[in-house]
Amino acid sequence: MALHRSIGPFDTTAIGLGEMGLTIEGHPSHEKGLETIHAALDAGCRMIDTAWSYYAPGEDEQTGERLTREALESWHGPRDEVLVATKVGLRRDFDADGRPIWPRDGRPEHVIAYGKQSAMALGVDAIDLLYMHRHDPEVPYGESIEGIRALLDEGVARWAGVSNVTVEQLDIARSILGDRLVAVQNQFSPIHRETRDTLEYCARLGLAFVCWSPLGGFRHPYDEHLFDPFRRIAAERGVSYQRVTLAWELAQGDHMFVIPGCHRPETFLDSFAADGLELTEDELARLN
Ligand SMILES: NC(=O)c1ccc[n+]([C@@H]2O[C@H](COP(=O)([O-])OP(=O)(O)OC[C@H]3O[C@@H](n4cnc5c(N)ncnc54)[C@H](OP(=O)(O)O)[C@@H]3O)[C@@H](O)[C@H]2O)c1
Repeated sequence: MALHRSIGPFDTTAIGLGEMGLTIEGHPSHEKGLETIHAALDAGCRMIDTAWSYYAPGEDEQTGERLTREALESWHGPRDEVLVATKVGLRRDFDADGRPIWPRDGRPEHVIAYGKQSAMALGVDAIDLLYMHRHDPEVPYGESIEGIRALLDEGVARWAGVSNVTVEQLDIARSILGDRLVAVQNQFSPIHRETRDTLEYCARLGLAFVCWSPLGGFRHPYDEHLFDPFRRIAAERGVSYQRVTLAWELAQGDHMFVIPGCHRPETFLDSFAADGLELTEDELARLN
């Protein structure tokens, strides 16, 4: 039985599936994407994390949300148990050198339009959990969050989250969304510990903290040595270092969630077993 935890009123799994890799550049085939989501759901995973902006530049927009919808509609399990989270406020494009980038678009009227498009692509009356993806520096943060509030008021989304926020931005969002703000999604992993302030603040506030790119991500090079302590414990335990990493993140508090990404069922299923790995006090001290 997978570990379940609460995000606001939702009872869901502490380990969700990060959908991004299945639809941005380098993604596997459509069939492999569906197979991967179905394998996760069949294993008991009850959270899928997608975004309006999960598509490869040059391909159709919102392919991540549409893949999620198709996977759920073609799955024979209990759809009502699955929390689907999506995000608005970013687009995809290429820069002048042909590299993919994430332009920000936080104008409130656009946030509202994106939210409605997300609900349509997901095929739902109301999105379970809708995040403001990232602050658009051209727009005061509170104005973007007003767009999220309008979507909650209109019933386009049930609950809200914020992503890539500082403590100050989180406070702005709380002042506008109140109790309807239930989750923060920030980058936290062995190579990105600088968000620990927001992680600890969420624990005090009773908000869920969802770690994005919990394994360091697959898109950017980073210092692999930062995973060495995790590899050592993995070797002692006879499990993958990815499992040790996710178990360490979940051990940071009962409000912690992880959404490992993958391109195939095998990696997700290995990661999904991380909630069964209980690290000792001594092991946690070696990793913290
Ligand atoms: N809010 C935001 O701004 C934001 C930004 C980035 C990401 N995210 C979310 O975070 C999710 C995860 O991030 P991510 O995909 O960038 O990075 P990640 O989860 O840190 O890493 C994904 C990589 O880890 C590999 N992997 C996963 N489990 C493994 C295992 N048990 N053994 C070996 N390799 C394993 C995958 O391998 P394979 O490719 O071989 O399957 C993939 O290459 C995204 O899908 C998205 O939902 C949010």
